[in-house]
Amino acid sequence: MKVRVVIIAAVSADGFISRGTGVPWDLPEDRAHFRRLTAGRWLLLGRRTFEEMTGWFREHRPLVMTRRALPSPWEGAGVAGVEEAVGRVAEGGGGELWVCGGAAVYEAAMGYADELILTEVKERLGGGVAFPVVEAGEWEMTRREGGGGENPRYDWVGYERVRKGTGKGG
Ligand SMILES: NC(=O)c1ccc[n+]([C@@H]2O[C@H](COP(=O)([O-])OP(=O)(O)OC[C@H]3O[C@@H](n4cnc5c(N)ncnc54)[C@H](OP(=O)(O)O)[C@@H]3O)[C@@H](O)[C@H]2O)c1
Repeated sequence: MKVRVVIIAAVSADGFISRGTGVPWDLPEDRAHFRRLTAGRWLLLGRRTFEEMTGWFREHRPLVMTRRALPSPWEGAGVAGVEEAVGRVAEGGGGELWVCGGAAVYEAAMGYADELILTEVKERLGGGVAFPVVEAGEWEMTRREGGGGENPRYDWVGYERVRKGTGKGG
């Protein structure tokens, strides 16, 4: 069975996911949305993001992209890249891999992705860690919904791949 690759990210209006460390906004409803969607899933995270989220993975199956050994109890969670992660999900009988960042992992996974679930935050960071370009022509927007009440600070936006990319995985 093909493993479906889903990227989930919160991105600023000028295309950044972070100023360098941590998440640059406080959006409780969006955090709940992220938890709800990713609960019970196979996740792929970069080692830096994994360390930032320590203690968070009680109801998930995290795989961590790293070139190093991971500390106990996560020794078995390390992977060298997206293809290895997809292989691990398939071996485990899973149907989806949810890619949760950071930038290095989004960049590596973009060419493999079938779906993007983005929180488009209506705030400009002016610099920082960039999200990869969503190539027009490869993606179709399937959903846009204002999140966060009457005066939304962000939109939840879904994209489905309509054309393969030219890069790795595409
Ligand atoms: N807004 C959002 O939705 C969102 C989501 C997630 C994260 N973030 C933010 O993004 C920032 C972190 O992003 P980041 O890009 O600096 O770090 P990252 O992607 O979380 O992790 C980087 C690490 O991944 C490993 N790695 C990268 N490429 C690899 C490869 N080809 N093969 C094997 N391992 C590889 C390396 O680990 P080793 O050094 O161990 O080898 C590298 O140091 C944080 O500020 C975080 O808060 C934002």
